Amino acid sequence: MSLWNPLSPENIHNPYPMYEQLRAESPIYKAQTGEWIFTKYEDVKYILTNRSFGSGNRKNWIDRGVEYLAQKDIDLAYIAEAMNNFILQLDPPAHTRIRRFVTENWDKNGVEKIIEKNTKILINQIKTGEFDIVESFAAKLPSMTTARIMGLPMADHQYLHDLSSEMIKALDLYVDLKELVRLNDASKKFIEYFREKINDHNLDDGLLKHLLAINKKATEPLNEKELTSVFIFLFVASEETSVSFLGTTLFNVIHHGLQPTLINKSTLKTKIEEFLRYDSPVQLLGRIASEDAVIGNTKIKQGDTLTLCIGAANRDPEAFVNPNEIQLDRNPKHLTFGKGTHYCLGDWLAKSVAEIAIKEVLVSFKNLQIVSPPANWYNNIAIRGFRSLRVSAS
Ligand code: HEM
Repeated sequence: MSLWNPLSPENIHNPYPMYEQLRAESPIYKAQTGEWIFTKYEDVKYILTNRSFGSGNRKNWIDRGVEYLAQKDIDLAYIAEAMNNFILQLDPPAHTRIRRFVTENWDKNGVEKIIEKNTKILINQIKTGEFDIVESFAAKLPSMTTARIMGLPMADHQYLHDLSSEMIKALDLYVDLKELVRLNDASKKFIEYFREKINDHNLDDGLLKHLLAINKKATEPLNEKELTSVFIFLFVASEETSVSFLGTTLFNVIHHGLQPTLINKSTLKTKIEEFLRYDSPVQLLGRIASEDAVIGNTKIKQGDTLTLCIGAANRDPEAFVNPNEIQLDRNPKHLTFGKGTHYCLGDWLAKSVAEIAIKEVLVSFKNLQIVSPPANWYNNIAIRGFRSLRVSAS
């Protein structure tokens, strides 16, 4: 029987026993679908920081699917256009150019104030008693915050959130035709949305307006298609990941009875790191071997596809003592934001959102209890999160 069953609902809800078995019996495992599955912390870290392994396997996969379906008169070209400059799918030097464009010009001032304001708005809309803390809070805060940071109209945040939920499928493990069609539709709408913003001379102040002004003065400016793809990815990358992280962390805090401990801390900074380790929102990363390589005793051939299980690496007992326990003072070196060339460029934002939002929820709602278990799980093991968690508060 295969040790790698990423599509079973049981493993989507709780992948950790599967990871544990893989790590113990076959830490470099050849899946029936041909790719290598890695579950050990040191292996995952090595691959992420080694230039023999490039990014872009999801884009290759999608491009091939789009090309194949074009022969059958199914046109999915918008997906390729939207993803053409997804920073995550690029290798240097193309990657370096785009990454610098964003990181060097992103002014972080004022971001905490935006998060605080949005957190308060959402909390004030909730009536104590019984409520869904994901639906009414965690699922809204990241898109409201990213929209404000970018200088987009607040009224658009739900629309952008819904498009992002479709678009994130581009990074899933295995996508079926129905999902590709929905992905294409979301790509089209996203392209149209940002194309309009790029040509809007009355944009509100924010990241978009700032990046567009910088780009105008650049010696080698990004063209409209490149800009559109970069903006789409910034929105998508910040969305499902942050929603999932807020949801699982709120669940873990309440389920493990940690509200009284956390409420008295002046800051949740280091505590958030342990929640990031314990339940990583991004569970899988993909790489392609750009040359032959050897890891341990396993020969990897050029062109082989590698799936790195972040959630497994973060619970490797060789890297973390009692990895299945939440230990708030651990301050772990988790791999939740990746490592190396593609290390998450929004980690500071994700952590800031979580620190401010979780603290405010714990202070505002006394004695939080879970009414029913998490529901509406993200239906792919690549992301760990859910869309519903009913709680009560006094
Ligand atoms: C808890 C929330 C988040 C998690 C768990 C997360 C996780 C990750 C991971 C694992 C990667 C590396 C992917 C790889 O190596 O293949 C990554 C890359 C990236 N993330 Fe995040 N992320 C989060 C939030 C954000 C936010 C808020 C932004 C804001 C824009 C963001 C923007 C990006 C970008 C642009 C990249 C690509 C960087 C590159 O390729 O150089 N992420 N993220």
